[in-house]
Amino acid sequence: MFDYKAPSQLLKDKAILVTGAGDGIGRAAAITYAKHGATVILLGRTTKKLEAVYDYIEKQQYPQAAIVPLNLDGAAGHDYLELANTIESEFGHLDGILHNASLLGERTNLANYDPVLFEQVMRVNVTSQLLLNQALLPLMQKADNASIIFTSSGVGRKAKANWGAYAISKFATEAMMQLLSSELQSLSPNVRANAINPGATRTNMRASAYPDEDPTTLPEAEDIMPLYLYLMGDDSLNVNGQSLDAQ
Ligand SMILES: NC(=O)c1ccc[n+]([C@@H]2O[C@H](COP(=O)([O-])OP(=O)(O)OC[C@H]3O[C@@H](n4cnc5c(N)ncnc54)[C@H](OP(=O)(O)O)[C@@H]3O)[C@@H](O)[C@H]2O)c1
Repeated sequence: MFDYKAPSQLLKDKAILVTGAGDGIGRAAAITYAKHGATVILLGRTTKKLEAVYDYIEKQQYPQAAIVPLNLDGAAGHDYLELANTIESEFGHLDGILHNASLLGERTNLANYDPVLFEQVMRVNVTSQLLLNQALLPLMQKADNASIIFTSSGVGRKAKANWGAYAISKFATEAMMQLLSSELQSLSPNVRANAINPGATRTNMRASAYPDEDPTTLPEAEDIMPLYLYLMGDDSLNVNGQSLDAQ
């Protein structure tokens, strides 16, 4: 899928929610989806960053985006309900979710891991995905075909020392994807779920995890978009329950 060439209007008339859409891979995915015809719903915790993505999409004359400022670390049931109600009244249904927002947490061993930070990473990286899926599944069931994409990591498949809560959260994300994809087959066969491991990509998170690395040696977020397009669009209708590498 590294060289998948998406039709220019692959995502025309689709409404797609992207979490962590203000920066890094989420920003690139939101812009790429809009470029391919989608109406993107930009969810993130820093409104200024979301506004900058919104303005960029508008300037390019892609379909008008929507902004949802939401901190996934404190979001409660009513926030998710409100989000679902807003999407229902604006679009009537939802065709895709890219679960992309994540916290890196500490790079330290488990013996010393701050338990408060551990819970925060699990809330943002795992629990919020459950709550978003629960709130938004009814809207995805109304779509012709809908795609849920989770974001994994190399350390979500093989844990390595000092990756702490982040690695555990990515293992949990892989499990959530597998559970959901098999449960959806009977519950809602029009909705599929897969995961992407982006691989080393030039973003702020990568720079925090590897401060000594030269970022110019890494691909940019825009370079890994073929798989993000493939899994979101209808060319991947028969792909379900897979965890794929973007590089
Ligand atoms: N870059 C890599 O090499 C790499 C490798 C493997 C996996 N990944 C995964 O790829 C995804 C994107 O990572 P990235 O590298 O693009 O990281 P990034 O540049 O740090 O972006 C992460 C995004 O998540 C948002 N976010 C964090 N906490 C949030 C919260 N509490 N509520 C709402 N939004 C929140 C951030 O918002 P703010 O900008 O407002 O802080 C930001 O937009 C993550 O799931 C990451 O684990 C990345």
